[in-house]
Amino acid sequence: MVNHYTATAKTLHWLMAVLLFGLLALGFYMHDLPLSPDKLKLYSWHKWAGVTAFLLVLVRLAWRLGHRPPPLPASMSKSMQFAAHAGHLALYGLMLAIPLSGWLMSSAKGFQTVWFGVLPIPDLLDKNKEVGDLLQTVHLGLNLLFVVTLLGHIGAALKHHFIDRDDILTRMLPAHAKEN
Ligand code: HEM
Repeated sequence: MVNHYTATAKTLHWLMAVLLFGLLALGFYMHDLPLSPDKLKLYSWHKWAGVTAFLLVLVRLAWRLGHRPPPLPASMSKSMQFAAHAGHLALYGLMLAIPLSGWLMSSAKGFQTVWFGVLPIPDLLDKNKEVGDLLQTVHLGLNLLFVVTLLGHIGAALKHHFIDRDDILTRMLPAHAKEN
């Protein structure tokens, strides 16, 4: 039984981890800044990186559908295995829903996203202040849920490594890479 992730799965996992931590940090930081040209520039970078994260998660899901991950260790109880799968499903759902809510929010607020200043992304909604404000709250709420889910994800990985002493964490690390 193959017991490691492919190099593609690992690359997508760690690339997205860096990008998503950056997006979370930038999102919370820029929100409280006073209005200025610098703030607007940071908003643009946040939106460009967010659209990139959305595209990457689509690639990742397409890859995942064709490549089953290695099985969880038999030492894990059925309920823990269920919790692990549910956690991963929640992470995928949030990785799709968060950028989508940001895109919808920007559309409703009347600020079209132009990806890296080059590629205009179509607005999904007509301009509407109430809807824009509601979507801003949705974007924030989903992000708070994401932070909690991520803490659970990271906590579980560390527990597997330091307490259960299985290979759940190491099989996602680069040194474990064997094939694509
Ligand atoms: C996975 C991708 C994304 C993550 C993790 C993320 C995260 C965040 C966070 C944490 C905030 C701060 C929320 C607050 O304090 O109110 C925020 C704000 C914001 N995000 Fe995102 N975001 C993502 C994608 C996007 C996308 C794709 C867009 C638009 C195309 C976008 C547009 C915005 C805007 C405009 C704000 C500022 C809201 C305001 O303060 O008016 N985000 N984001």
